[in-house]
Amino acid sequence: METAIKPFSIRDVEINPPLILSPMAGVTDISFRRLLKRRGGVGLTVSEFISVEGLTRNNPKSKRQMRFFEEERPFAVQIFGGQAERMAMAAEMAEEVGADILDVNCGCPAPKVVKHGGGSGLLRDYTRLEAILKEIKKRIRIPLTIKIRAGYYDNNINAVETAKLAEACGVEHIALHGRTKEQGYKGLANWDLVRQIKETVSVPVSGSGDVVNVEGAFARWRETRCDGILIGRGAMANPWIFRQVEDAIHGREIFQPSLEEKRAVLHEYFDMLREDMPEMAAIGKMKQLAGQFTRGLKGGALFRQAVYHSHSVDEVLNRISEYFEAMEAGRPYYGEGRPADVGEEAPVLDSCEAATVNS
Ligand SMILES: Cc1cc2nc3c(=O)[nH]c(=O)nc-3n(C[C@H](O)[C@H](O)[C@H](O)COP(=O)(O)O)c2cc1C
Repeated sequence: METAIKPFSIRDVEINPPLILSPMAGVTDISFRRLLKRRGGVGLTVSEFISVEGLTRNNPKSKRQMRFFEEERPFAVQIFGGQAERMAMAAEMAEEVGADILDVNCGCPAPKVVKHGGGSGLLRDYTRLEAILKEIKKRIRIPLTIKIRAGYYDNNINAVETAKLAEACGVEHIALHGRTKEQGYKGLANWDLVRQIKETVSVPVSGSGDVVNVEGAFARWRETRCDGILIGRGAMANPWIFRQVEDAIHGREIFQPSLEEKRAVLHEYFDMLREDMPEMAAIGKMKQLAGQFTRGLKGGALFRQAVYHSHSVDEVLNRISEYFEAMEAGRPYYGEGRPADVGEEAPVLDSCEAATVNS
């Protein structure tokens, strides 16, 4: 396809391939990241956003969110909060547990987060943002990065100014999700802002938003000349997307997973979840992935519904087997004999809000 796309470095941390698994609260936990990393093509993994209030007050959930596997490296911990001292303390903790990069969340639109000055709230309070970045910078040796939105208000797009300020404070990589806080997840991400930031600052710049296939990734690279691409929701629907983009970068035939591989990935994920959390929580997460993963697959809606109605590990496993057996035999899938009430399925989280528990 094209050869201009190459690895980049955040100081001495090489991002190769230049593809980042976008942080998603409630989704990109240690199991999901490992699942994705094993599929190939992920150049950087990032934790879910972690509350600095939780971390610095010894909240066990926040601490658990900092765990990672060696095989995930390079690995970034993303933190959120509004107090410089707490942010710096949490950054030190991330460095101590061995994270390669510390990332500051300047994008979360959840009221609970914004109210305390954190997340996208920082996009309308440069004094606070500057104080936070400078304090963190003094206290850690690993690279400091940020993930921002286009702006807080729709009528005040300030991503380029935010990027300049961040660079001046010593930030070494800027990722932009080109929607405003007000916009939430509506409409499309503005990638022209990624181009503008890339033309303005000298640190590496990556873009986020709406990349769901190889063509989309290449188009965004071509248009913006950015260094890296983040993929979030697209990876839930297609865990092989990173490998596919990497194949295209190297001019290889693009990997297409077989039905067997799709079935295996659901089992692998479920096994990891059950090792890591109580059964009901694992079933809940499984519903979430099964919902995204089978979008567009034949019989996918009925399968999602069947998994959604499962209440035990065995039920989930049986539904997976039945669905894939039907697909492999070329038979239609009828769920568990239920009528096709396909409207009901596991809710898809559409913001960091749903997973915000510690702030
Ligand atoms: C469920 C969900 C949770 C998210 N949580 C975070 C988060 O914790 N930190 C963050 O920086 N962005 C978060 N985001 C934003 C994504 O990282 C990404 O920028 C956005 O979804 C656009 O990219 P996509 O179209 O590839 O998903 C979240 C998005 C979703 C859908």
